[in-house]
Amino acid sequence: NRVLFAIWLAMLVTLAGCAGDKSILDPAGQAARDVRFIWWVMLGFGTVVLIGVTACWLYAFKPRDVVRTPAQERRIARRWIVGGGIILPVASITALLAFGVPAGQRMLPLPISDPPDVIEVIGHQWWFEVRYLQAQGSDQEGNNVVVTANHLVMPVGEPVDFHVSGADVIHGFWIPRLGGKIDMIPGRVNKIRLEADIPAVFGAQCAELCGVGHANMHLYVEAMPREEFDTWLASRQDEQLSEAATADTAHDDAREAFLNHCASCHRVAGVSSGTIGPDLSDIGSRATLGAGVIAMEEGAVSRWLKHHQSLKPGNKMPAHDDLEMDTLDALGAWLETLTP
Ligand code: CUA
Repeated sequence: NRVLFAIWLAMLVTLAGCAGDKSILDPAGQAARDVRFIWWVMLGFGTVVLIGVTACWLYAFKPRDVVRTPAQERRIARRWIVGGGIILPVASITALLAFGVPAGQRMLPLPISDPPDVIEVIGHQWWFEVRYLQAQGSDQEGNNVVVTANHLVMPVGEPVDFHVSGADVIHGFWIPRLGGKIDMIPGRVNKIRLEADIPAVFGAQCAELCGVGHANMHLYVEAMPREEFDTWLASRQDEQLSEAATADTAHDDAREAFLNHCASCHRVAGVSSGTIGPDLSDIGSRATLGAGVIAMEEGAVSRWLKHHQSLKPGNKMPAHDDLEMDTLDALGAWLETLTP
């Protein structure tokens, strides 16, 4: 009985780990419901196999006084190998394939009458670049594309095509509550179609070991009604962002410091055009800093600038030992105002 209790406890603890904003057991879209269904089928089937194998194993210990001839032994062995070793696996794997193929098909970006929005997501060590290709006024050359980082906003109740790739090594794009994961490979564009049923915030996580910062590579995903989404995009056009970044003369010193120390890596619309690190044009409106490492709140940017190497070990931004604390505070205070 104690053993049974321990098994139940272990199962409960395991299942408790399946809650939260990254739970495949709490789907918020059709693709993720398919994934959950297959997960339960596999768990159920695996449990049946476990019970069957355990029963056979216990049965093998049973003392018996029947003496069989070698020919009889061979016949019995053949029956087990053909039945349990060939027929059973072929049947069960075929059944899983029959479940799995249509589920995978639904995530393929096949042509549909009303073409979905395209959001490009690029994995970097260790953050996500998010580009909205169909933003109002954007053209083929990529002018006026809205760019943000580690914060993905999508319309709810309609399919969205994600075109993903990697900038340096292979990363993994995975929003567990919306669907399966897909590799982000340098030099290649992988596509996945996902749809959110409810306006909510979903957790997402890099799903491919990509170096020391892998575990600290989160993406904040927010699904919102179409009008809100359009407003969100429209407010992030370059003119508005530039104005927010340059209008306030109280931050002139911070802008100056930014141009001297940060501008070659980071872009701020109207101020700088670096592309190595995350675009910071709307950083004040994001939910987190450092790709989900700390929450965005008053003073958070300055804290990040001072301690980022201990908050997110190995990240590629150099330590700022050469800058005065006052300068870092001023930079943080200014960056926090960058919100449309
Ligand atoms: Cu990027 Cu793991």
